[in-house]
Amino acid sequence: MKDMQGKVALVTGAGGGIGRATAKLFAKQGAKVVVADYLAEAGEETVSQITADGGTASFASCDVSVPDQVAAMVRYTVDTYGGLDYAVNNAGIDPEFALEADWSLDSFDRIMSINARGVFLCMKEEIARMKGKGGSIVNVGSFASFAGVPNKPSYSASKHAVLGLTRSAALQYAREGIRINAVCPGGVKTAIMADNLGSLPEGGEDLVAQNHPIGRIAEPEEIAETIVWVAGSASYMVGHGLIVDGGLAAG
Ligand SMILES: NC(=O)c1ccc[n+]([C@@H]2O[C@H](COP(=O)([O-])OP(=O)(O)OC[C@H]3O[C@@H](n4cnc5c(N)ncnc54)[C@H](O)[C@@H]3O)[C@@H](O)[C@H]2O)c1
Repeated sequence: MKDMQGKVALVTGAGGGIGRATAKLFAKQGAKVVVADYLAEAGEETVSQITADGGTASFASCDVSVPDQVAAMVRYTVDTYGGLDYAVNNAGIDPEFALEADWSLDSFDRIMSINARGVFLCMKEEIARMKGKGGSIVNVGSFASFAGVPNKPSYSASKHAVLGLTRSAALQYAREGIRINAVCPGGVKTAIMADNLGSLPEGGEDLVAQNHPIGRIAEPEEIAETIVWVAGSASYMVGHGLIVDGGLAAG
């Protein structure tokens, strides 16, 4: 893994799960990290874990669906640490588990506003700071960026949008030294997954694990490894949606 001393990383949704693991790994590689989340306590906990390990991090409160807050978060990153080399747009929600007839417009709007609009807003501000200097952006998509998911139409639509935003922006900014990619996980052991498993009948957890050819769902650290590698090391990867799913999409 690349030495990231002197580099600056911003991770949204870093108060837990994949985002926290990613922020911690950036810090371990030597980067200064801005931990962004709309939950202050969770974000501050990530900062504490990083600083306890000797890393450098600070918290930015931000709801990624709100333009002013996103602008302030990116401004804070540059003001605090002097630049922006890596940005990981990871914040996302997956609350929906509805029968088709029960699809709710409110739920669609909420999911799209965080998962898709959030990535749009973050990239817009991040690219503005990276122009002329270069940088690398990793958006967190999903297996659902490539496939429909029964009972999750809005989530799947939002994650398809993440891929569309990623590819289009990547094409536009590749020649300016800004690499933009997406990492697309299958099931990962986080709060989102716990919520989803909680709504399944008895034995559902095992079924989800067995549905992955590898026979288990991922640890957040396994996804973080991929994200940080794509951000810092994958120098010829542009506009790619990298599936990391224990073999799910291979079948
Ligand atoms: N866990 C999985 O199985 C899985 C699979 C594929 C993709 N993903 C994606 O990975 C990303 C991270 O999810 P996770 O599994 O780590 O879940 P998580 O719930 O553990 O972490 C998500 C974090 O995002 C934050 N967040 C949510 N909405 C926000 C907003 N509007 N503004 C700022 N922060 C916000 C939450 O507070 C939380 O800290 C999401 O985009 C999710 O869709 C997860």
